Amino acid sequence: MKLFDVYPLFNINIVKGEGCYVWDETGTKYLDLYGGHAVISIGHSHPHYVDMITKQVAQLGFYSNSVINKLQQEVATRLGVLSGYDDYSLFLINTGAEANENALKLASFHNGRTRIISFSKSFHGRTSLAVEATDNPKIIAPINNNAHTTYLPLNDIEVVKAELSMNDVCAVIIEGIQGVGGIKLPDNDFLKELREACTATNTVLILDEIQSGYGRSGKFFAHQYAGIKPDIITVAKGIGNGFPIAGVLISPIFKPVYGMLGTTFGGNHLACAAALAVIDVIEKDHLTENAAQVGQYLLQQLKSFPQIKDVRGRGLMIGLEFEEPVKEIRNKLLYEEKVFTGVSGTNVIRLLPPLCLSIEQADEFLQRFKKVLG
Ligand SMILES: Cc1ncc(COP(=O)(O)O)c(C=O)c1O
Repeated sequence: MKLFDVYPLFNINIVKGEGCYVWDETGTKYLDLYGGHAVISIGHSHPHYVDMITKQVAQLGFYSNSVINKLQQEVATRLGVLSGYDDYSLFLINTGAEANENALKLASFHNGRTRIISFSKSFHGRTSLAVEATDNPKIIAPINNNAHTTYLPLNDIEVVKAELSMNDVCAVIIEGIQGVGGIKLPDNDFLKELREACTATNTVLILDEIQSGYGRSGKFFAHQYAGIKPDIITVAKGIGNGFPIAGVLISPIFKPVYGMLGTTFGGNHLACAAALAVIDVIEKDHLTENAAQVGQYLLQQLKSFPQIKDVRGRGLMIGLEFEEPVKEIRNKLLYEEKVFTGVSGTNVIRLLPPLCLSIEQADEFLQRFKKVLG
C-alpha cells in the first residue's frame, strides 16, 4: 500500500530532536523555527517529558473514559491555575479540529441556534463543523457546505454587531492570533466589544487558541492581552508537545449532561502524562515569559530588515510579509542555512519555534536569515 499523497513534502527525513534542533538521517542539524507547525512547546525530546511518558506507558497507557482517571483531573486543576481559568471545566480530546467541533456543538446545545460567525482567512480545522467555520473553500467538501457560517472581516466590529443583533447566531469563533491566515491580530478593542456584543445577544464566544495558546504569544492565551474571558477556549498543539491531545475549556454557564460529549481516546492516561510534563516544564522554565522576551527581541530585530514589508505577531508567533513570494527564501533557509520555518499563503514566512528558544538561538537565526536575504 502507498500513502495517500496529500502532502507536498520537503525531501528531508527528520529522525531526532533536542530542544530547538532537529537532525535528519544523514546527521545534518537544523535550527527549528517551525516547531513542527507550532506543536513543539517545551522543546524536542525534553528529558522530563520523555521520562513521564516512558514511566506512564510502562504502567498503563490507556483505559477508557468509563472509569476514574485521576490524571485527567490533575491536568484540569493544573491547567486551570496556569491559565487563570480555574473556574472553567475541561473536556479532553485528541486534535484541534475535534476541540472546535465539540466547542461548536456545545454552543448549539446551549442556545439552540445553528448560525456561526467566523472571520476572513480563519482556520479552525478539517472536520465537519470546524472546516465549515474555516474560510477556505478549497478544503470544504460539498458534504460540509451546509451554510451555517457567515465570514466577516476581522476587526470590523460594526459589521459583527449588525449580524449579532439578529439574535440568531449560535457562536462566534475567532483565533487568538490568526495563524494559517498570516499572523493577523484581532485588536484589543475589537475583542472587548465582541465580548460585550456576544453577551448581549446570548451568543457563545469561542476563542480558538490552538495555535496561539499555551504561552506562545507571551501570555498563556493571546486573548488575555485584551483582558476578556470567552465562554469557550480550545487548545491543542502545544498542550502535548507532539503527543496528540487537545482540550475544550468551558465556562461555568454550561451545564454538563451525561453523554452530551464523548470520545474513546480523548484524555487517555498517556496523553495526560504528556500534558502534565508540558505544564511542569512551562512552569519550571518560565516558558511563557521566555516567549514574551525572546519574541520581543526577534520582532525588534526583524523590523530593521528593509527587505521585509511587514513584521507582526506576539511572543514566538511571528509573521514576516514580503512583497514577493517567499518560496525561494524559505527553501534557501532550509537547504542552505539549515533552518526550518513555516509559511502562510505565498508571501508570509511564519516563525513558530519551541518556546524555549534562547536569545543566542534567535541570533543564530537572524544571522542565517541575513545571509539568505543578502
Ligand atoms: C487555529 C487552529 N485551529 C485549529 C487547527 C486544527 O488543529 P488539528 O490539525 O490538530 O485538527 C489548527 C491547525 O493548524 C489551527 O492552527
